[in-house]
Amino acid sequence: MSKKRGTPRHIAVIMDGNGHWAKRRGLPRIMGHRAGIDAVEKIIDASINMGIKYLTLYAFSSENWKRPKKEVTALMKYLDEYLTKKLKDFHDKDIRLLAIGELAMLPDKVQKSLYKAIEETKNNSKLTLILALSYGGRAEIVSAAKRIAKDVKNKSIRLEAINEELFSTYLYTAGIPDPDILIRTSYELRLSNFLLWQVSYTELYFSKKLWPDFNKKDLAGIIENYKKRERRFGKV
Ligand code: IPE
Ligand code: IPE
Ligand code: MG
Repeated sequence: MSKKRGTPRHIAVIMDGNGHWAKRRGLPRIMGHRAGIDAVEKIIDASINMGIKYLTLYAFSSENWKRPKKEVTALMKYLDEYLTKKLKDFHDKDIRLLAIGELAMLPDKVQKSLYKAIEETKNNSKLTLILALSYGGRAEIVSAAKRIAKDVKNKSIRLEAINEELFSTYLYTAGIPDPDILIRTSYELRLSNFLLWQVSYTELYFSKKLWPDFNKKDLAGIIENYKKRERRFGKV
């Protein structure tokens, strides 16, 4: 029997194409990131209106540290400004903020505004917004494996107790349901190290829109299509 389709609970997004968006306009890449922030705003509002409970946004990958220093610095500055400026909005809209990734790699200033926003929004409940920052799926799995090994060694868990469910609780995403939908904009057909464990049965959507152009209508179209798809989870 196939699972009845309802509104997706969790949508994950690889927000790609900011650089191309800027290039098409003859602007520096960082102007594309600037424009990308407005798209974030629109998609958060649309998600709330459509009853989505979890929205994960891939904002910065562990590989993105290898970009030119100027671009990384600008991205970190935008991130810090975003977290500081939007805190009131998060409250008004009942948004709980979470972050996944190697957060210790982020500049101190960003860590401070990030942890402040996470702490101050922890009791909000309409939408859980999860920012993937300095995030890499393989690093996440390795870190989980290391911590499990440590717990076996110090005897807080038994080797026999390790299964998929237990393993999941060692991931950054512990307690967060797996995404129902993964969207990647800019029509690059790859995962780029995003949520490798979590997307095993996620429905994938690749949009031709560049992230700054992605809007509410695009999201609504994907959700409509999702409701028509049959998720079999390996069954017939
Ligand atoms: C995605 O846009 C945003 C980040 C990775 C921070 P890109 O910057 O990758 O834009 P393109 O892929 O070069 O167009
Ligand atoms: C993935 O996009 C990371 C984010 C959107 C934050 P990239 O643009 O970094 O991925 P590649 O380099 O095209 O695989
Ligand atoms: Mg890209």
